[in-house]
Amino acid sequence: MELGGRTILVTGSSRGIGRATALLLHERGARVVVHARSPSERTSILLEQLGDRGALVTGDLAAPDGAALVWEGAVAAFGGVDVLVNNAGAWIASELAPDDAWRAGWDANLALNLTAPAELCRFAILHFVDREPGDGTGGVIINLVSRSAHRGDDAEHLAYGAAKGGLLALTRGIARGYGRSGVLAYAVAPGWVATELADGAVEQSVLEALPLGEVTPAADVAEVIAFLASGRARHTTGATIDITGADYVR
Ligand SMILES: NC(=O)c1ccc[n+]([C@@H]2O[C@H](COP(=O)([O-])OP(=O)(O)OC[C@H]3O[C@@H](n4cnc5c(N)ncnc54)[C@H](OP(=O)(O)O)[C@@H]3O)[C@@H](O)[C@H]2O)c1
Repeated sequence: MELGGRTILVTGSSRGIGRATALLLHERGARVVVHARSPSERTSILLEQLGDRGALVTGDLAAPDGAALVWEGAVAAFGGVDVLVNNAGAWIASELAPDDAWRAGWDANLALNLTAPAELCRFAILHFVDREPGDGTGGVIINLVSRSAHRGDDAEHLAYGAAKGGLLALTRGIARGYGRSGVLAYAVAPGWVATELADGAVEQSVLEALPLGEVTPAADVAEVIAFLASGRARHTTGATIDITGADYVR
């Protein structure tokens, strides 16, 4: 049980990549704090699957104190957090005009896709550096960005790409700035993943152009996150792992 004894917070784990990740981390032995905006049938089923190594925290991360409340709840669940997986996010449109649509899209993207994960990173670093590292690892942060962080997003989602680009730069800064304190930080950058976020966006023409001929399964992203969470390749810190099925190759 590679992740035995570790407590991992996975934000946005009611569905999609987060849910697949929570289940895999649990299978590998971790205690998992799952998170969603509010309790639902989905979170009840997930909690049942996780048994006594699972707990739920809820809260809107786009709200001003959302990240603080989620972090407090996660730490309280099992008495600490060893790995933070900043997964919650949404592909929110940001039309250029009219002005208020642009501002609303920009603010919403930054609040959920950049400010909230940044706040969670901040709380995690303070928590990690404040304790005795057991196995040489003070803690691990894994941030879900997107290939948009590198190449930008489409015309309707400029703010999403900008937010993910900001999160990518933050991840690299943390890896460089807090490595000596035992904090490892990684970015995971998917292309199209088969979740509700991508539903309706992947048309037949897009599908036909994908090198593997299929949208990435959430389980593939979960595998990479589980590997990074293990701390087995500490010197990968600061890296971004692309998971696009070669649809976007840098
Ligand atoms: N799918 C893709 O093609 C793709 C590609 C690149 C990057 N990503 C990134 O991967 C991550 C996961 O995406 P996904 O496709 O798995 O998404 P998803 O299936 O739409 O699930 C999103 C998760 O985030 C939570 N969430 C959304 N808004 C929230 C808010 N305001 N406060 C708290 N939680 C909120 C949702 O909780 P509720 O159930 O409570 O709504 C849900 O658990 C995101 O960061 C996304 O940007 C996805």
